[in-house]
Amino acid sequence: ATTDQPSSLARTGFSSRLGFVLAAAGSAVGLGNIWSFPTQVAENGGAAFVLVYLGLSLLLAYPALVAELMIGRYSQSNPITALEQLPDNHSWRPVTRITGIIAVLVICLIFSFYSVVGGWLAGFAMAPVFEAAGFSDLSKWMMAFSTERNLLLAILFVGATLAVVNGGVKNGIERWSARLMPLLVLLLIGMIFTVMPQEGATEGLKHYLVPDFSQINTDLMLNAMGQAFFSMSLGVCAMMIYGSYLRRDTNLPGVALQVCLLDTGIAFLAGLLIIPALYVALSNGVSIYENGQLVNSDTLVFEVLPDLFTRMGTEGIVMSLSFFALMTIAALTSSISMLEVPVSCLAERSGFSRAKAGLTVCAGVLLVTLLLIIYFDPLFNATVTFTTRYAQPINSLLFCLYAGWLISRHRKLQEISRGWSKAESSLFWKIWPWYIRIVCPVMIGVIIFQSI
Ligand code: PFF
Repeated sequence: ATTDQPSSLARTGFSSRLGFVLAAAGSAVGLGNIWSFPTQVAENGGAAFVLVYLGLSLLLAYPALVAELMIGRYSQSNPITALEQLPDNHSWRPVTRITGIIAVLVICLIFSFYSVVGGWLAGFAMAPVFEAAGFSDLSKWMMAFSTERNLLLAILFVGATLAVVNGGVKNGIERWSARLMPLLVLLLIGMIFTVMPQEGATEGLKHYLVPDFSQINTDLMLNAMGQAFFSMSLGVCAMMIYGSYLRRDTNLPGVALQVCLLDTGIAFLAGLLIIPALYVALSNGVSIYENGQLVNSDTLVFEVLPDLFTRMGTEGIVMSLSFFALMTIAALTSSISMLEVPVSCLAERSGFSRAKAGLTVCAGVLLVTLLLIIYFDPLFNATVTFTTRYAQPINSLLFCLYAGWLISRHRKLQEISRGWSKAESSLFWKIWPWYIRIVCPVMIGVIIFQSI
């Protein structure tokens, strides 16, 4: 620790650089990549969306990710305390603290809708097992939309997240992430190869890869930006808390770039599978669109893919089981980062034990989940839109401003250059401080403003 470091609490960090990259990528890779990205591609003009998304991920989300990780590692504390202690000028502290509190509330809201979809994934993973064990009715129940099923599976999902978070950072998060990522990538590649030869796939591939630039408009830009921030877990302190667990001798922009590339890479692979699969399903007469819109946002993962698996016979059952099981774990490594944020805040600020903090947060989250499930129709989509399209980018904008204006150049450089001796002479260093001060906030602001 250095002299101008805020007071720090004992933190159980990641044991290695790779452990951190995998855990942060574990937070990033989840439903955003497999459920939300392909759906957005299908609804927002195909390849044009892909292009804008990839551009914004690198040009906007990546620098914002470095800013968030930096604030976290610099502070060595939970996000609310981190933001509160950030400004040299004390008069800013109430403002930065409130931003932290809002971000924590938003992440709880994200956790509550995420656990519904995470539960569905778990249901689809369990269904073939029940089928094979002779519980055919139960298997069908797991895959059919009902309030009871949604609630039961969401409770299961939140419970599983709580169990991992209670295991602590090193044991809980690192272990899960390390095993999953390579398997998921392999499975996606395998599935892409099975889809490509099928009728309709080439047309899907064209839709995914050949952009029609006339499709780019302000709405598409806003959706792509929200998607990029959601997918990289930005603006809600998840990356900030992982930054606070990151060892001081790690090159921050370097690991952030790895996380960004892994996340966008896996989203791109998922699209490469799901968009052609959508066209295969269309050519098989599965009704997916209604008035030019997808029937609903779950169609791709919970109808198109199961349709694909069913037509593959026995091999399809194995693939279905592996896909949904791996995706459930991918969603879990994301929800772990969501729960870790409020738990660390409660535990470090109010003196709750971690176990008690976890139970308290999960009870609150489940209450909101219950409301989302009961009033599914208006509430669910509205919550997804509010949190991912608006709250995450706006909070990220504020984090960039804080990192850009409230931390002196000297302190920023000191933090960035830990673990990276050549930081000061690098191009990154010359550009990034100005970039997050001005370019990122202006870009985010303009995209939001224009769409309104
Ligand atoms: N990035 C996750 C995904 O793509 O599924 C979602 C997410 C995780 C959002 C953590 C926000 C967060 F704090």
